[in-house]
Amino acid sequence: MSPYAPLNVSVRTSRLELRAATDERLGDLAPLVAAGAANADPPPWDDPSSFYETDPEMRVTGWMQAIWRGRGTVRSDAWRLYFVAYVDDEPVGQQDLTGHDFSAFGTVESTSWVATDHRGQGIGTEMRAAILHLAFEGLDATEAHSEGAIDNVGSNAVSERLGYERNGVSWATHQGKPVLGQRWRLTRESWAAGRRSDIDLFGVGPCRATLGIDVPSSRAEQAGH
Ligand SMILES: CC(C)(COP(=O)(O)OP(=O)(O)OC[C@H]1O[C@@H](n2cnc3c(N)ncnc32)[C@H](O)[C@@H]1OP(=O)(O)O)[C@@H](O)C(=O)NCCC(=O)NCCS
Repeated sequence: MSPYAPLNVSVRTSRLELRAATDERLGDLAPLVAAGAANADPPPWDDPSSFYETDPEMRVTGWMQAIWRGRGTVRSDAWRLYFVAYVDDEPVGQQDLTGHDFSAFGTVESTSWVATDHRGQGIGTEMRAAILHLAFEGLDATEAHSEGAIDNVGSNAVSERLGYERNGVSWATHQGKPVLGQRWRLTRESWAAGRRSDIDLFGVGPCRATLGIDVPSSRAEQAGH
């Protein structure tokens, strides 16, 4: 157990587990980041831009520093939770959940990558389903957003499969070059219509307090152990 509540959160499905990204777990994932398994085509957004460092050690260093900065700037209107995804105890990717003005709007955004050797096996979809369960069931989110480059077939397919609706486009950069992004939106009602009963949350209650979430959630309290 960590004295820092967000590092005790985990989400378990029948297929995989998202475990809060402690330094030890970042160490599990670091060889994949060093090997370029996070930023192979199609590339994620410039998030963190250190993924595009050509030197493997600098790539890992910048990636870890970005996560530490994110951990250190948690406020009720701006927070980000970082998870390492494990299948049978093998690290396979990273799944993050960000709250922007969460206290006002209850909206979250998810970001993820799956290591190249594990793509195309349903893991990205399962990771997203797990983080949505944490957002809606554990944190009482009202709406989840996602964005993928317009030609990022995998990312956009995950959103479509999980019931998101198209929500316009916006520009972002990939390694400095402008790229059109497809925005996606999943309402609480749409999530509830396909809600899964085989996903378990752990450690959510104390984490809610750290994030400044004061909406009562009996489920989150039950899960907060
Ligand atoms: C996007 C990503 C997380 C998806 O993970 P994944 O484990 O490969 O996804 P899944 O196996 O669950 O596949 C999801 C859907 O995408 C489709 N798909 C995945 N990769 C595909 C590809 N390269 N070409 C065509 N279809 C693809 C699958 O067929 C599946 O479609 P279905 O639901 O209709 O069957 C992964 O490809 C990745 O890490 N990409 C790089 C980082 C990234 O783009 N992150 C998201 C934006 S920040």
